[in-house]
Amino acid sequence: MCGIVGYIGQDKTLEILMDGLSRLEYRGYDSAGVAYLQDGNVDVIKRKGRLDNLREALNNAGCMSSEDVFAGIGHTRWATHGAPSDENSHPHLSDSGKIAVVHNGIIENYLELKKYLTDKGYKFHSETDTEVIAHLVEHHYKKCEPGNLLEAVRMTLSVLEGSYALGVLCADCPESFVAARKDSPLIIGLGEQGNYIASDIPAILSRTRNIVIMEDQEIALLTAECVKLFDSLGQPVEREPVYVTWDSEAAEKGGYEHFMMKEINEEARALKDTIVPRIRNGLIRFEHVDLNREILEDTDHIHIVACGTASHAGVVGKYIIEKLCRIPVQVDVASEFRYRDPIIGEKTLVIIISQSGETLDTLAAMREAKKMGARILAIVNVVGSSIAREADSVIYTAAGPEIAVASTKAYNTQLAALYLLAFQMAHTLGKIEQDEYESYLKKLTELPDVMEKTLARKETVQRFAAEHFNVHSVFFIGRSLDYALSMEASLKLKEISYIHSEAYAGGELKHGTIALIEEGTLVVCPLTQDRLLDKMISNIREVKARGALVLGIAMDSCAKAEEVCDTIIRIPDVDPLLAPIIAVTPAQLFAYYVTVNKGLDVDKPRNLAKSVTVE
Ligand code: G6P
Repeated sequence: MCGIVGYIGQDKTLEILMDGLSRLEYRGYDSAGVAYLQDGNVDVIKRKGRLDNLREALNNAGCMSSEDVFAGIGHTRWATHGAPSDENSHPHLSDSGKIAVVHNGIIENYLELKKYLTDKGYKFHSETDTEVIAHLVEHHYKKCEPGNLLEAVRMTLSVLEGSYALGVLCADCPESFVAARKDSPLIIGLGEQGNYIASDIPAILSRTRNIVIMEDQEIALLTAECVKLFDSLGQPVEREPVYVTWDSEAAEKGGYEHFMMKEINEEARALKDTIVPRIRNGLIRFEHVDLNREILEDTDHIHIVACGTASHAGVVGKYIIEKLCRIPVQVDVASEFRYRDPIIGEKTLVIIISQSGETLDTLAAMREAKKMGARILAIVNVVGSSIAREADSVIYTAAGPEIAVASTKAYNTQLAALYLLAFQMAHTLGKIEQDEYESYLKKLTELPDVMEKTLARKETVQRFAAEHFNVHSVFFIGRSLDYALSMEASLKLKEISYIHSEAYAGGELKHGTIALIEEGTLVVCPLTQDRLLDKMISNIREVKARGALVLGIAMDSCAKAEEVCDTIIRIPDVDPLLAPIIAVTPAQLFAYYVTVNKGLDVDKPRNLAKSVTVE
């Protein structure tokens, strides 16, 4: 998704912008550009494709290390309105060339605004929604006192519909620039030699740890010396910066070839950080979750709403919450939930799951549910993100920054949070006995060790992937929780290796999809659910009879797997209820090694973005 960096101060502006943009590459982008102030002009350089193209253009222009550039804004774009091209890249300039704008989000009324501006004689050079902002700022700027860029931006914002994080630079105002946000994240960094804006903290973490998180509808005026923040009514806002403690190293590869592998290797740590601090004196305690017995008894159903990997975590959540708490649970992908008129009321608990906390569909679904009176509990990784701030209560996963587009450790920690929640709700409702509760807590705290052991067995997966990375189609089949985890296993494989893959309920395959099984088709079968093992063995026999090659993912003690699987990836023994947290990891590793063998870009798969902040 698009990224923004801006800087004003004494250091080398273009180097700062390029460094920041490179740290935002993980968000996914198809073009990039910068605008900077030099000799009383706004200069813009932008290029389709990778940042290297932009860097080359800056080098050719001889401005990369310029000592006389003290303010600039940069952007990585992920096309929404208009194809990836130099023209559609940001920053966009106003007619006079005086004003430059970078924008994340979508201006919903841009066609209307474009017509208004075209009628007034403004010329458009791109197909983007963003260009209207540049012209509008100029249009309003003409009516303001000379140099009052802040007022011109404020007037512009009042007519924009949709979402935005904005950086605005003006040739007349070399001492400042303006930033604003609504429904799209933007932060301000306070440095010693100048100040920054960014769409995401890692972009500027190597420069400063003092971060001011902008709230919706706020606008900021940045100079090299200070930052002034205002609300939508123009009233000054005082907000203390937060000091970010995590290391910028944590947002980089740390010795691994790819972020994805680094992040898979962090799963044991991430589980520990998510689980252990929540278990104190034999009880699960959440800091900001108010689900007492009265509230839970009054809850007649639960909706879990999320997108992508997070929605797959939600499917596991449904199985365990229903099993343990006996409350009906529905899982919806957020984009469907929003528009299908779901039955939600005051007795509904909506659990929102999101790694980034910024996925637009999820955020919008949450707001919709809130409007309908539901109680909102969010499971989020990014502290201070929009979903986290707007939910009634939040359980933060402690995965740490996730850079690879394919989500891995975030999923395991989302599951951990859901288990903690399910055990706690079941306990509060008196649905599980004290000894059962205590035994689950003990098993939860053992999971980080089990994960370490699982990760130590990478080679089996690596070997199998090296032999079979050329397959054309893969089916993941499982029953119950193995089916739930198959959904995620299948997504992981297809999104990074581009191999067609599907997840199917073991018992459902025979109702049509088995027609696709032919000689050599790879079928991956998680076999962690003891009570359903015999049924799965029958299903495996069905696919083997049609020529399938079968890879099992089974616990050490599951001897029966030998009867039907061609190869087995072993995981340590674990309670079947908790198995998805562990059994997903070999599937993530399988996707990783297949992709590496195919020579593809593991961390930045085609067509995908890490954080999808458009509908
Ligand atoms: C994008 C990412 C997925 C992610 C989904 C939801 O599509 O590519 O990996 O699962 O968004 O993201 P969230 O941040 O809300 O969990």
